[in-house]
Amino acid sequence: VAARSEGSDSLEGLFYETAYEQVEVSCLHLREAAVILDGESSSKMPGGLPENFVLASPSRALEAARAMGGTLIFLGESDLEPGEDDTTQEELLASCMSLLSALAREAKGELEIFFVLKANLRYSALWGLLRAAAHEHPELRLRRMLREGDGVTMLLPALPCELNLRSEGAFAPRLRAVAPPAAVPLGAARNALVTGGLRGLGLQVGKWLLESGRASSLVLVGRNSAKGEAAEVVRSLQEKWPVEVRNCDVSNWAEVQQLPDDCDLVIHCAGNIKDGLLMNLTPEDASQVLRPKIRGSLHLKRHFPRSKLFAFSSSSGLIGPAGQSTYAAANTFVDALMPSIQWGGWGEVGMALDLGIDPLPGELFLPVAQGMECLGRVLDGPGLERHAQGQSPLCVLGADWEAYRQNATVFAPDEQLLAGIEVPAQPASSLGERCEGDSRGDGHVQRWTLILGAAGARWRGASTLWEVSQQHVVLGTTVFPATGFVSLALEAAASVLDVSLVQLSDVSFLRPLELSTTRRLTTTLVRSGAGGTLRFSSVPLPPAGQEEDQEEASKAASTLHCTCSFAAGNASVLAQQELEAKATQSQSLPAVPSIYARFAAAGYFYGPAFQGSGFAASASSASCKLPASKPANLAVQPGNLDVALQLASLLHPLGCRGAPQAIRRLVARSGTQLSTATGQLTAMGQLNFQALDASGKVGCSIEGLSMAALDAPATLQTRRCVWKPLATETRRGAWLAVGTEAQSLGLPGTVDREEESHEAVVMAVRASSLEDVLRCRREVSIQVAKKRCWLLALQDQGETFAEAAAAAAIEVGAHAIIGSASALSAVAEGLGHFTNDQ
Ligand SMILES: NC(=O)c1ccc[n+]([C@@H]2O[C@H](COP(=O)([O-])OP(=O)(O)OC[C@H]3O[C@@H](n4cnc5c(N)ncnc54)[C@H](OP(=O)(O)O)[C@@H]3O)[C@@H](O)[C@H]2O)c1
Repeated sequence: VAARSEGSDSLEGLFYETAYEQVEVSCLHLREAAVILDGESSSKMPGGLPENFVLASPSRALEAARAMGGTLIFLGESDLEPGEDDTTQEELLASCMSLLSALAREAKGELEIFFVLKANLRYSALWGLLRAAAHEHPELRLRRMLREGDGVTMLLPALPCELNLRSEGAFAPRLRAVAPPAAVPLGAARNALVTGGLRGLGLQVGKWLLESGRASSLVLVGRNSAKGEAAEVVRSLQEKWPVEVRNCDVSNWAEVQQLPDDCDLVIHCAGNIKDGLLMNLTPEDASQVLRPKIRGSLHLKRHFPRSKLFAFSSSSGLIGPAGQSTYAAANTFVDALMPSIQWGGWGEVGMALDLGIDPLPGELFLPVAQGMECLGRVLDGPGLERHAQGQSPLCVLGADWEAYRQNATVFAPDEQLLAGIEVPAQPASSLGERCEGDSRGDGHVQRWTLILGAAGARWRGASTLWEVSQQHVVLGTTVFPATGFVSLALEAAASVLDVSLVQLSDVSFLRPLELSTTRRLTTTLVRSGAGGTLRFSSVPLPPAGQEEDQEEASKAASTLHCTCSFAAGNASVLAQQELEAKATQSQSLPAVPSIYARFAAAGYFYGPAFQGSGFAASASSASCKLPASKPANLAVQPGNLDVALQLASLLHPLGCRGAPQAIRRLVARSGTQLSTATGQLTAMGQLNFQALDASGKVGCSIEGLSMAALDAPATLQTRRCVWKPLATETRRGAWLAVGTEAQSLGLPGTVDREEESHEAVVMAVRASSLEDVLRCRREVSIQVAKKRCWLLALQDQGETFAEAAAAAAIEVGAHAIIGSASALSAVAEGLGHFTNDQ
């Protein structure tokens, strides 16, 4: 354990705390959503909501979300303080449990679901419940945000996560090992009360308080009288100390009011556990678990305003294991309300033993004596101050993390909560592990392997590239950026050629590498003459804990993602590119507002490492500033290169929908801190780019980028419509057919001369080349400036760029439809009745 310090303290390695680490996330840019609002509907809704939203009730949430582009936001805005015999908490949790169950039953993977909650007591139990729900239903991809402070803008992250949003940014919880608090001299003995004190851990706590001299008298509270061995223990304590037994249900306010109120110390141990999946929980099961902790804690806090209150809470609240949603909820509520310890499992006595719950692999149950020693350190030391200062409670648990974290019901494979617990050594190179004995024997082949994807995160071949890729999200999935292959290729070539200037040629991006499952990426370098070739391929790996399937996995077909050739770079190529870059920089290009909303509409969601600024472009040149890159052991930052290539969206007809397909030549100097980029579209329809350092020197030049369409944007995706004859009075007015292509179609309801009255313009194009698309985009943008414009992208003889032309037209503000001339003629009469979205 990284943070464990040298020392002889016997409690070393048992104490943890939750620290919050600032993180960068890719966010969705959504235009519409269904919002379930918990709280008063006010005109001042928090910033960051999609522009258009409807307020929906939990029971109609699914229908509403489907109608609103598939997004559902639960917005927790209420400050409602729970009261005595509280029902508000149980109602809130019950309604969220039925919402989550309905979503799990009916909306598998179909919706983007966000819970955005105010950081207050009202939502503290729901927070724990959501942690367990996220483990039970990873397919819901729950995104959970706690807004700390009124003015904090909400983020809508592209990937599942838990975040605390503050004015400084987004923070994610990380468990970290801390030194045991120092033992301090005891103060005077006092009157103590222990709930749940008539058996289990509570009774042991009472005994320990008396025996250790922390208490001089004791009240033991439980609903039922002590039985069997527990009754014996109570009797023996009563022989030596003043020990009073009280039967009281702490979730009943009237009963709690009967308890003596002159106690200096109150330890709340009462609690119940009843495991069950969210979908199967009954209201009775839920309230049995929730009441002693939620109502019980509230009642104790009200009844003992001057006492030192301390609670037994559980690491289940922090971790949220599958099957413990209500238990997690009950405990996160306790943590929010009073000082506590989040305990791992105990051995020898208590609920785990009574219910026959065995420790999971790697989980080390605490012996009672050791647990009490830990309790003493916290109770006498920092326990109360931590809570008063708003710090997270200490977590005390025994674990062999290597084994414990493999338990799939407790930890997701990429559990970022544990990211700081065991930070494994980074592979020496960002290429990963060098494969020994796998070469052809002539020394010309070298291979490296890297585990990528959730289970590879941090702890098995952890890699900077995996971390960086988390900010590169395409259509809701983390995708290894094409520029990641470029980074690896430069790294591999530089290492074998022992140069810092490398040239890659004929780089082909064949298939994207999705990181939603674990894959082993292999870089294969074949050296021949003064250069060689590189290929990147991957195979799937079995999920953690199923490594016996390794053999099967090794038989799985490998996917080839990228190939290229390499050689030492020629400095004169960069010098020549420098001229081109300078020419672009000296032009004053018109500024382009943020391009990321447009990227988002096409399905690309970029995190800060992949976001440039200061975009400017003319028809043939573009420039921008690159993100300040973080130190990483890579020859070139993939994020920086990616932003340079994003300039293509301002130059290429595919706009934001283009994905890099190939690069003819790329020259890069390792280790250059890139700060700006320029791009040009040449007369031949070629795309070239340069990325420059702060002094204007080219650090990377890219020539001949070709693009492919990522996927049809929503506006172009096939929709099935039923065409009905229109009544004459509802027919649209005349359209102006512009250009010979549109006029030759003989569309009904069109005029050919501009002087004639018309309500819209229709154009047609047969796009068979990039030039056709560029021309179409130019002409459509002129018409769009004057009137509503339709583009008919004809597809009779395999016009390969029909879709690109349609997309280009949509990007400049037109409507577009793709089809054969005869089909378009047949439907043209009805087109005007469709709205933008259709
Ligand atoms: N054991 C563990 O491994 C473990 C781990 C982490 C945290 N914890 C926490 O430690 C505390 C003690 O657990 P334990 O293992 O000692 O459990 P336990 O043996 O089941 O004892 C729970 C005690 O709570 C009492 N209780 C339950 N509901 C009550 C109510 N409404 N009013 C008053 N008393 C009530 C029970 O007595 P009656 O049923 O007679 O009322 C019993 O005395 C719990 O808060 C638990 O969440 C335990």
